Amino acid sequence: GDGPPSEHAGSSEARSDSIKKREALSSVVALGANIICNKIPGLAPRQRAICQSRPDAIIIIGEGAQLGINECQYQFRYGRWNCSALGEKTVFGQELRVGSREAAFTYAITAAGVAHAITAACSQGNLSHCGCDREKQGYYNQEEGWKWGGCSADIKYGIDFSRRFVDAREIKKNARRLMNLHNNEAGRKVLEERMKLECKCHGVSGSCTTKTCWTTLPKFREIGYILKDKYNKAVHVEVVRASRLRQPTFLKVKKSQGYRKPMDTDLVYIERSPNYCEEDATTGSVGTQGRLCNRTSPHTDGCDLMCCGRGYNTHQYTKVWQCNCKFQWCCFVKCNTCSERTEVFTCK
Ligand SMILES: *[C@@H]1O[C@H](CO)[C@@H](O)[C@H](O)[C@H]1NC(C)=O
Ligand SMILES: *[C@@H]1O[C@H](CO)[C@@H](O)[C@H](O)[C@H]1NC(C)=O
Ligand SMILES: *[C@@H]1O[C@H](CO)[C@@H](O)[C@H](O)[C@H]1NC(C)=O
Repeated sequence: GDGPPSEHAGSSEARSDSIKKREALSSVVALGANIICNKIPGLAPRQRAICQSRPDAIIIIGEGAQLGINECQYQFRYGRWNCSALGEKTVFGQELRVGSREAAFTYAITAAGVAHAITAACSQGNLSHCGCDREKQGYYNQEEGWKWGGCSADIKYGIDFSRRFVDAREIKKNARRLMNLHNNEAGRKVLEERMKLECKCHGVSGSCTTKTCWTTLPKFREIGYILKDKYNKAVHVEVVRASRLRQPTFLKVKKSQGYRKPMDTDLVYIERSPNYCEEDATTGSVGTQGRLCNRTSPHTDGCDLMCCGRGYNTHQYTKVWQCNCKFQWCCFVKCNTCSERTEVFTCK
């Protein structure tokens, strides 16, 4: 040994994080993957099997799903539908019963979230069985004159893992399955297309005699905005029942002539959205009662649209603070008390 391991300044937070993670992991191992995996609600049999064979990955999967849910809540914070739903709670949040464009968004964002989290964990050495993208390591890009170096994020691994785990919940052979699988794939594809190339120059005083490059993950927020845009342009599709058993076989754009298929990165839906105004167990809508709204906004966060014409309650309160503070000779500060009446509005 060369003495005690040195500690890098500023790494104590990461270290305590690492200890927490290791503790979480060891408690998973101690409790037995079996027990943990049987306690997670709503896992399909194949997902349970993956959970049992890869208990380290299940923590990252949970983080990836949460990444997706958080992004969904952010993107829809001003909408009548705010990413909440009634019904059974799963690793992926509550599931929407209606095959709507909102359901399409949640599937795409969670599939992308899991792929993102797994890939990030691999790059940082937090997961067994994966690491940096070794296929690229050491190769030259002849045309552009740089070399692959550093740690390229292994997005193929993350995407493949997301495909195996997230898609395994589609066990019913129905139209919804085709819709969900398409949207999962669309979310992952958007992520893959947004991978970034980062480069660094080497050489005397910053000259670029040699250049090394590696791929990195995009910020997840970027994926959120792209998928939100795709949500706005989501494509209404219907299933085509082919084969002798007349099972749903593929999706075609509704009302298209012939069999026009949706594009790989389109979000697709098979049912119209409810208006999400009232609580409704059959559609999974939680309604907008109690939601904050903006009295003057003409958009969906405005009280007219948000409250669906039911009206709103006004809550008045008085904000008090110290203001106009002046330094007085010598030695004290004199302030006035300012106050302002403030109102917030919530839907009836
Ligand atoms: C990897 O582990 C380190 C230390 O536990 C932690 O700080 C980091 O957030 C983890 N990264 C991912 C992507 O889980
Ligand atoms: C969404 O709206 C419901 C109903 O008003 C509310 O209970 C819930 O807390 C909201 N969720 C978020 C993430 O804002
Ligand atoms: C309400 O909406 C108006 C118009 O869109 C905007 O200028 C204002 O900042 C909003 N108020 C709040 C509290 O968000």
